[in-house]
Amino acid sequence: MKATIVLLGGDGIGPEVVAQGKRVLDAVAAKFGHTFTFVPELIGGAALDAHGVPLTDSTLVSCKEANAVLLGAVGGPKWDALPGHLRPEKGLLALRKGLGLWANLRPVKVHPLLADKSPLRPERLENVDLVFVRELTGGVYFGEKKRDQTERGARAFDALTYEEYEIERVVRLAFRLAEARRGKVTSVDKANVLETSRLWREVASRVAKDHPAVTLEHQLVDSCAMRLLTHAASFDVIVTENMFGDILTDEGAALVGSLGMMPSASLGDGRVGLFEPIHGSAPDIAGKGIANPLGTILSVAMLLKHSLGLVAEAEAVEAAVDATVRAGILTGDLASATPKSTIAVGADVSSRVVSSSKG
Ligand code: IPM
Ligand code: MG
Repeated sequence: MKATIVLLGGDGIGPEVVAQGKRVLDAVAAKFGHTFTFVPELIGGAALDAHGVPLTDSTLVSCKEANAVLLGAVGGPKWDALPGHLRPEKGLLALRKGLGLWANLRPVKVHPLLADKSPLRPERLENVDLVFVRELTGGVYFGEKKRDQTERGARAFDALTYEEYEIERVVRLAFRLAEARRGKVTSVDKANVLETSRLWREVASRVAKDHPAVTLEHQLVDSCAMRLLTHAASFDVIVTENMFGDILTDEGAALVGSLGMMPSASLGDGRVGLFEPIHGSAPDIAGKGIANPLGTILSVAMLLKHSLGLVAEAEAVEAAVDATVRAGILTGDLASATPKSTIAVGADVSSRVVSSSKG
């Protein structure tokens, strides 16, 4: 097939890991006979430096016209002092909103060989295989923001609102995913305090009636945070609102042992999706060639599956990553022996894709 893929390296280690994602896509194209056209664009601090805004209209148009978008990371100390609407992160939020990507899938699977990198005891990690479905274009992230003055000093507002349809579509997606997995949805909220959460709970219970094969449980976000550390294997699909999802998915990543291993897919009504590792721009290690590219490469597998419908290709990439991990070709965040460079890990995965038996 022919596909156009926008590459948004972004800031810090972003361009380094995206280069390895592209390398793997090139390997897939060669192995399976596809033609991928790459369109490099800027986002975040890189776009601010070049154009004065974290996402230009023309970049957004390129993304809308593409089949998929692969992104590295945005942000860094250089741009920290900028006002909210000019922060690098605003570019990412505008891209999610502009592409209508209301669902963010973040799978958490512990690789048995990497279990010793987790801060948790190995027995707490056995059989951990869950996926977060995070609502991505609503809630407090996109609510009205305001500052004013009272007689005591400054006051700030961030409005938290959810409309029923925003909850329903993401909860439905969680149920569909659970049907293809172990048949369990945990809907996470703070219904003992928040009105948005009470609406969330009502909608989730209603959607559950259409999916009798799936069991729905409701859980408060604070106890969910604890259960992730004590009984993570008891989760299958976790669906939650934007900010709770932001926080819980970093906790989920810590279970795996390295933020560098976690991929994500952001999806909406159309086929074009945004695929990115969940780690940040890691300015402290940027430019050193030591960042772990596996989160980006696993995001490439999600891209192949969700935006291009190339399931065998996605499986070939996942199998290649597994083989690379088994061979101990790992960057410093995971390596037990001599750490390998970002490029060496990307090259190893790519060559395993090319020599795999599939295709
Ligand atoms: C994430 C990140 C972003 C978010 C930031 C960079 C805006 O933390 O993708 O989880 O909060 O959504
Ligand atoms: Mg986050």
